[in-house]
Amino acid sequence: MRLTVIGTGYLGATHAICMAVLGHEVLALDRDLDRLEALAGGRVPFHEPGLPEMLRKALDSGRLRFTDDVAEVAAFGDVHFVCTGTPQLPGSMGADLSQVEGAVTALAPHLERPCLVVGKSTVPVGTAERLAATLAALAPVGEAAGLAWNPEFLREGHAIEDTLRPSRLVLGVTSDDARERLEAAFAPLLAAGVPCVVTDLATAELVKVAANSFLATKISFINAMAEVCEASGADVHQLAAALALDDRIGGRFLKPGLGFGGGCLPKDIRAFIHRAEELGTGHSVRFLREVDDINQRRRGRTVELVREAAGGDLRGVRVCVLGAAFKPHSDDVRDAPALDVARRLHEEGARVVVVDPQALDNARRTHPELEYAGSALEAAAGAHVVALLTEWDQFRGLDPARLGAVVERRAVVDARGALDPVAWRAAGWTHRGLGAA
Ligand code: UDX
Repeated sequence: MRLTVIGTGYLGATHAICMAVLGHEVLALDRDLDRLEALAGGRVPFHEPGLPEMLRKALDSGRLRFTDDVAEVAAFGDVHFVCTGTPQLPGSMGADLSQVEGAVTALAPHLERPCLVVGKSTVPVGTAERLAATLAALAPVGEAAGLAWNPEFLREGHAIEDTLRPSRLVLGVTSDDARERLEAAFAPLLAAGVPCVVTDLATAELVKVAANSFLATKISFINAMAEVCEASGADVHQLAAALALDDRIGGRFLKPGLGFGGGCLPKDIRAFIHRAEELGTGHSVRFLREVDDINQRRRGRTVELVREAAGGDLRGVRVCVLGAAFKPHSDDVRDAPALDVARRLHEEGARVVVVDPQALDNARRTHPELEYAGSALEAAAGAHVVALLTEWDQFRGLDPARLGAVVERRAVVDARGALDPVAWRAAGWTHRGLGAA
């Protein structure tokens, strides 16, 4: 099939590359010429394991091309996937839909042959129906330009696996033609047995926000238990391990710690609250406000632990921060809990040196007020407190004796439950963790 992908961010670039590898002819559009040049030259402009090799494979096949010309895209595609971002609006909990709306209104006037426009971006329920009307009004081919919704559940760090072997496909459609086109686009996945749920547009939009809300709730649930553990002398890691053995609960997304961040979970739950309120059903998702609050409180508690470890005052204290990315195996620092904590420590007068295996360039851009180092030993030199904020394997494997030799004081705060307290204490460190007395 001839597919186009509009927007070559994390989602779009991965989708375009994987679809070409699956055998489709793919034309991907972006207005960012530097990004297009990088991708066309075989460089992935973000960190995603395995994706550079897949991009090379796709480019070598001759089936993947890039353009900034929307008319070319309209003339080329049988199916157009819209993969633009929907960030949080400044000063509001709602989502900024300008990129998705802009993509559809730019494409529509050029659509002169029957085709299907498929939204993959995460949007408030009701957006697809509105876009379908826009499309029908603006496309020269009229209703022969259909609209469908196909939410994406891709996790950073697992982007290829989640695209080629997703847990499920959700196809939100309003016609047989739309369903058939999508089934053809995903034929190799369906043949491999990937479960597929065919729904209307609104349900497809909601599946995505409901899934992310559930995951966020699960994380905040265990972090709320961490607060109770801290107050009662219990240990949240043992509690989580015991809960996880009940297969009705399960251990995934039950990892206590500094909480969730990134470009999806935080803004998706806020946009969901906002949309539910617009629909007059705000009470149904009021608990998501608490989910967000619990998540934010973990950051405050981590700052408190570092302050306590520093003796009660952060002014002039050197803090080594291990981790900047919002999670390991990513260079993404959007709403990264680690950098938020680092910023707060800095604001209280600490001298903060951050180290991260992948996210330093992005962190430097968003947080120029912090200092950065190329290795944990360098970042820890002369530190009064070491704080582990993103659980990279490199940090889990640190030798407490070696690190202890370069710091000013052996005090460590582990906000991700990644270090063995026994080993660190044995090496002379004071160890404090989130979720334990
Ligand atoms: C998420 C969803 O998983 C994905 O389906 C969706 O399409 C996009 O949003 P992603 O943002 O890549 O993916 O990260 P994810 O692996 O879900 O982690 C989200 C955050 O939760 C991270 O900050 C992570 O550190 C945190 N987390 C995760 C926990 O704090 N505890 C856990 O047990 C699991």
